[in-house]
Amino acid sequence: MCGIIGCILNNEKAAPVLLECVKRLEYRGYDSIGIATSGSDITIKKDKGKIDDVQANLKLTDLPGEMGIAHVRWATHGLPTKENAHPHTDCKNRIAVVHNGIIENYKELKSQLEKEGHIFKSETDTEVIPHLIEKYMEQGNNLEDATRLAIGDLKGSYALAAISRDEPNKVVGARKESPLIVGKGTGEYFIASDVPAILKHTNKVIYLEDNEMVILSDDGITIKDPEGKVIEKEIFVIEWTPDMAEKGGYDHFMLKEIHEQPKAVKNTLREASEIKKIVQSFPKFNRICFVACGTSYHASLIGKYLFENLVGISTDVTLASEFEYSAETLDENTLVIVITQSGETADTLKALRLVNHKAKTLAIVNVVGSTVTREAEYVVYTRAGPEIGVAATKTYISQLTSIYLLAICMSGRMELLEKLESIPDYMESILENEDFIKKIACKYKDARDFFFIGRGFSYPTALEGALKLKEITYIHAEGYASGELKHGPLALIDDGIPVVAIVPPGKSHDKTLSNVEEVNARGARVIGLGSSKDEDLRSETMDMIEFDDEINEIFSAIPYVIPLQLLSYYISVMKGIDPDKPKNLAKCVTVE
Ligand code: F6R
Repeated sequence: MCGIIGCILNNEKAAPVLLECVKRLEYRGYDSIGIATSGSDITIKKDKGKIDDVQANLKLTDLPGEMGIAHVRWATHGLPTKENAHPHTDCKNRIAVVHNGIIENYKELKSQLEKEGHIFKSETDTEVIPHLIEKYMEQGNNLEDATRLAIGDLKGSYALAAISRDEPNKVVGARKESPLIVGKGTGEYFIASDVPAILKHTNKVIYLEDNEMVILSDDGITIKDPEGKVIEKEIFVIEWTPDMAEKGGYDHFMLKEIHEQPKAVKNTLREASEIKKIVQSFPKFNRICFVACGTSYHASLIGKYLFENLVGISTDVTLASEFEYSAETLDENTLVIVITQSGETADTLKALRLVNHKAKTLAIVNVVGSTVTREAEYVVYTRAGPEIGVAATKTYISQLTSIYLLAICMSGRMELLEKLESIPDYMESILENEDFIKKIACKYKDARDFFFIGRGFSYPTALEGALKLKEITYIHAEGYASGELKHGPLALIDDGIPVVAIVPPGKSHDKTLSNVEEVNARGARVIGLGSSKDEDLRSETMDMIEFDDEINEIFSAIPYVIPLQLLSYYISVMKGIDPDKPKNLAKCVTVE
């Protein structure tokens, strides 16, 4: 997705601040970057490429003026080129707009505007917005009213910021189905796609709802409803600190976030009493349905094994993008649990909206105040802190912790809480073993394909291990339920292919071990994850990543995924890839 920023400052040049803020949104897109500032005229610098490279070439920070807008792009319509980079302008460079979202009817709007004499310079859907604003301003409307009329013509999703040289002390923002927050500093005002972008300047935040507009001016912040009536909104004070969104001495956010995991789990555990209260207020459910995407989907799969084993309640897991095709059978006896770190994923939001009022809904979310938290009936916060690396790590582990807490509270098996509480200290000892994982990464980094296998609770861990590897190393990786190998994938196991086998002690152990023997017989190089006392597994593996024998499969999901995250991280770095910004991916996917 893209990231947008707008600001009005007080006796301070806007461009350096916009650049610093937009850098914190780089996880949302890194194809292109652009800034527009406004004084007596609108000045724009933009290009394709990463922020640092474009800044080095164009000196974005030299732009004059105390107010402006900025954008990082993750291309949807039109290749990453200078012309397609935001901000986009009208015919006379009188208006500049940055946008995150997708304008579904842009082709019709563009051809109508072209008939009316507007000349377009890019292939983007966004460019229709400044032209529409231009059209309405030429009819005598001010920037705010022209923007309101323009968004009335749009179909699709948008978080946008617009400026005009005719009203040089105003930034107008609007949102529909894409996130936009407002930051209130002292004498300085911001709009942004996300909170970490502006944390250095203010922790006072207002969350815009769909169809609301915001006007930043020297006089402050005005928020209006779709009819243009001024409305008062609650100001939230965010607990995150600016250093949480810094690398803190680590080479990459991903490595920092992997190391923050024990703390993240401890923070999630602090929500235990809140979760207990939520569970006490539950009616009786006869079915649970998890809905999520990507890594959050893998956390949901662990939820299925936990809820069916501990709570004894029938549990389904559906990919959010598939949900609309199967939602018919849910009713008020079903609890739908949506899991999303960002709270803004379009597929997950859509599923939530489809099911709200039919079934009870609970969201497990990391970002406080995100859209999902305002729409689900119950909300459980993971409290992992901001996650900047595109690949989810600490938020996954915190999601798992929330699921364990929910399952423990719903089953009444409170004795299991003690076991869960011992996990963060144990995680520290795994992280101390980092050099060993680095050596394994070096040994296997040139493999073309990888397989990850596991059964039961270890199957989602296998899927997550494979996802992490493919997204940040670009190595082809498959996660399989190990029992499925013989139903097809075994045909792909050849001499030397790495197979990561997740084999913790427990019910699934012996059968997975047999599957390990099968791949070994076909020449695989097996990397085993299992108990330090598991000599049978050791004898079948080329490399063995050891865990405490006390960690049984039920609690294995949290510690066992850590070496897999580190393996992917180090292979990524050894291949010269930036693990924080894998190609073609964005952290927050606000389009379906
Ligand atoms: C993978 C990853 C993605 C996200 C997915 C859902 O490392 O981060 O697969 O898990 O896009 O995002 P959220 O949890 O924000 O809904």
